Amino acid sequence: MSSANQPVQGMSDIAAPEVHLWQRMEQLARDVMVRYGFEELRTPVVEFEAVFTRSLGETTDVVQKEMYVFEKGGRRLCLRPEGTAGVMRYAAGLGAAETDGARWYYIGPMFRSERPQAGRKRQFHQCGVECLEPPSPLVDAEILALQVDLLRAWGLGDCEVRLNTRGESGGQAQVAEGLRAALAPRAAELCEDCRRRMAANVLRVLDCKNETCRAIVAELPPSTDFMSEASRAYLQQVAEHLDALGVSYRLDPLLVRGLDYYEHTVWEIASTALGAQNAVAGGGRYRMRLGGRELVGTGFAIGLERVVGVLQALGRENALQTPPPKLVWLVGLGDEALRQNLALMQQLRAAGIACRMASGGSMKSQMRAANKSGAAWALIRGDDELAQGVAALKDMVAGTQETLPVDQLATVLAARIAGPAS
Ligand code: HAM
Repeated sequence: MSSANQPVQGMSDIAAPEVHLWQRMEQLARDVMVRYGFEELRTPVVEFEAVFTRSLGETTDVVQKEMYVFEKGGRRLCLRPEGTAGVMRYAAGLGAAETDGARWYYIGPMFRSERPQAGRKRQFHQCGVECLEPPSPLVDAEILALQVDLLRAWGLGDCEVRLNTRGESGGQAQVAEGLRAALAPRAAELCEDCRRRMAANVLRVLDCKNETCRAIVAELPPSTDFMSEASRAYLQQVAEHLDALGVSYRLDPLLVRGLDYYEHTVWEIASTALGAQNAVAGGGRYRMRLGGRELVGTGFAIGLERVVGVLQALGRENALQTPPPKLVWLVGLGDEALRQNLALMQQLRAAGIACRMASGGSMKSQMRAANKSGAAWALIRGDDELAQGVAALKDMVAGTQETLPVDQLATVLAARIAGPAS
């Protein structure tokens, strides 16, 4: 469907009331991430294509099929498909002293030209972190604990964490070799995609959804068998630290992740409420070379659309939804009342009270506008009220009306907004 008043396929407008849920989620996320010592980093949505092709891996689906790439001024640019590489591009431009120990978080839109379906969008939003502390199992475990904490803050304490290792990057060729050799006797039975993956990216055979491939993969030795003792010990320590942090997880030797920059720890978090697109979040330790610097870090990204989908599927979105502030609608009868209401409206707003007014019209039409806006009160003034220094305050729900001195309005309204009864 293409129409002038529709967003591009796979992209959505997020309007009230759902946008209130997004705002609340973002606010809660910031609170949690700051508690773990993270600072916000806002990188551009448009980056050089090479930032991603090099770091995500030439054979990944994201790079091969899903990037929005365009040319401008002779440079190949793209819409960022994820957040990690842009953050590392920023880090590569800093000195080592500034990046050592850096903890950054981001919340923003990402773009992947995938086939849209429930939970899979072309513009989607991630909340993610990247931590550039020296590699250690303890940091990986702490970052995963943060992610679980964050999901819990949104009301998703019951997601499942799957944990695995990709092994140290120096040993990944050996792992690929081992898997290829183990798969070779049954290679002809694999699906067409996997036969291609055997040469290009054999790890991806492990998470193929095809039934036959899954049966073949189930009989393979775990990829940790092809890893160094140090890589296995690293995973073991991550698991011990997670136990100490009180984070539950399930070791899943078939978890590989779709991006090539990972080494050692990888994880995915899923909800059973979501159907096929059930990964709400993923992360791990990674290594990439950008701008002549080698950068290692640990991070994760949570798909916000997926989280909203789970909250809605579980009927939990209302627990997070904060109602919009109670609104006062100023009604002015006559030019002078309208003019003085402008000043009063600014005074009330300065006192923290949400206000609106119409630009004129009859009492009836102004009251209709107040009603339509969902205002909690209408504040009505005509010439008589102006002369006496008062205003009529109408409770739009109860239908009751009282007269109050104008200089008491801010205090009275603020107290009623804060108080239990309006
Ligand atoms: P990712 O697994 O590609 O990892 O994406 C993370 C999350 O983004 C997914 O678990 C999913 O919730 C959401 N997501 C991905 N694609 C879509 C889509 N088309 N529509 C809706 N949601 C989607 C990364 O992006 C890595 N940068 C994570 C990371 C950070 N690793 C280390 N640091």
